This record gives sequence, C-alpha cells and structure tokens, in this order.
Amino acid sequence: MDAMMVEPRSAVSGLSRKPLLRGIHHLALVTTDMRRTLDFYVRVLGTPLVHALRTPAAPPDAAPAHGVGSPPYKGILHYFLDMGGDSLLAFFEYPEGVAVADRDTLGAMQHVSFVCGPQRYREMLARLKANGVAIVAGPLLTIPPAIHSFYFFDPNGIRLEIVCNLEGDEQDLQVVRSCAMPEAELRAELAAISHDAAWIEDMVAAMPR
Ligand SMILES: [Fe+2]
Repeated sequence: MDAMMVEPRSAVSGLSRKPLLRGIHHLALVTTDMRRTLDFYVRVLGTPLVHALRTPAAPPDAAPAHGVGSPPYKGILHYFLDMGGDSLLAFFEYPEGVAVADRDTLGAMQHVSFVCGPQRYREMLARLKANGVAIVAGPLLTIPPAIHSFYFFDPNGIRLEIVCNLEGDEQDLQVVRSCAMPEAELRAELAAISHDAAWIEDMVAAMPR
C-alpha cells in the first residue's frame, strides 16, 4: 500500500491533515549587487553561501530554458545561501537599473520572516544593531500569546523579519505548533469569510483534535 494512504484524514472531506510538501527549498530574490548582498547575508545575517551558479548564457533571442517567468537575462549570477531549517535563500544578480519592486502589489513578496530560538533572537537583534542595520519595527508581539518579531531591510530594500516564540525552546522551535489557535476561534474567523459548512470543515481539517 502507498505510504500516503495511511496519513490521518479528515472524516468530512478526506483531506490529509499533514502537508503534502516538505517546506521551502529556496526563495528566489533579486539583487543588482551580489557582492553587497553577500556582505550582508553571509557576514551580518549569518546565512552561509553554499552554491554559486550562473544561469545559461544562451543566445539573447533563445527561449528561456526554465520557461515563462524565468529571469529575462542570460548568464547572470544565481547564488544560494543556507537560511537554516534545511532551506535556501537564492539571489539572481540583475543589471543595474531594473525597476524597484513594490512589495504591496498582487503577487509580490511582502517580506521574508526568519525564525530562531529566544536566546538567538536577542543575539541577532544585538548583532544587527552592532552592524549598523536599522531596526524599523519591534521587537514587538506579533502573534499572541508569545510570538515576537523585529523588522529591518536588506541592502536590496527587501523587508526582513526575525520571529521567535519567546516562551519556546532554543532548539526545538515548533514553528507550526506555536502558531496554532483554538479551533473555535479559527471557525469564528472563517465564518466571517464564508457560510459554506463543507468549506469550513476542509479549512479546519488539520486542527489538532
Ligand atoms: Fe511576518
């Protein structure tokens, strides 16, 4: 029997209560200055460089090897950083002069939030300040009762957040569990979106019983 078939399932819809995917492999961001980006991420934020790629240098009129939505430049730097949690942060180096993104538009990435334990959270705040990085908000309570965050920008203007469950363990972060809310409260929020009972059952299917 397929191992997928034995996952616990919602009695109502048959939806799996466990995610089908295993998290983020990489986020792909854009810089126009890889050197400056590496200075910040490797030296200040502590995300080690693990791979340095260059995208294919195909003829300018060739179709993008990775299809629609690929970077519109050939032979550009594509570097990968270890952001922890067995996930990567990737950058493409675009030419100077590309348009600056508006993070508050449809399909844009509003911000990236990194996680760590309580002690590292305080260390990172001090480390960023010591390196002259402006903390633009926080530390503040962002998800009750104990999830706190502070916010800053990378050299590309990408809004970053470091988040921490201040009541949590330093190593076993329990990111998902620490964000859980009582099922009744979640149902009340969903009722403001839809009165479709079957849809609401699907949405709460993963709630711990
Ligand atoms: Fe956030």
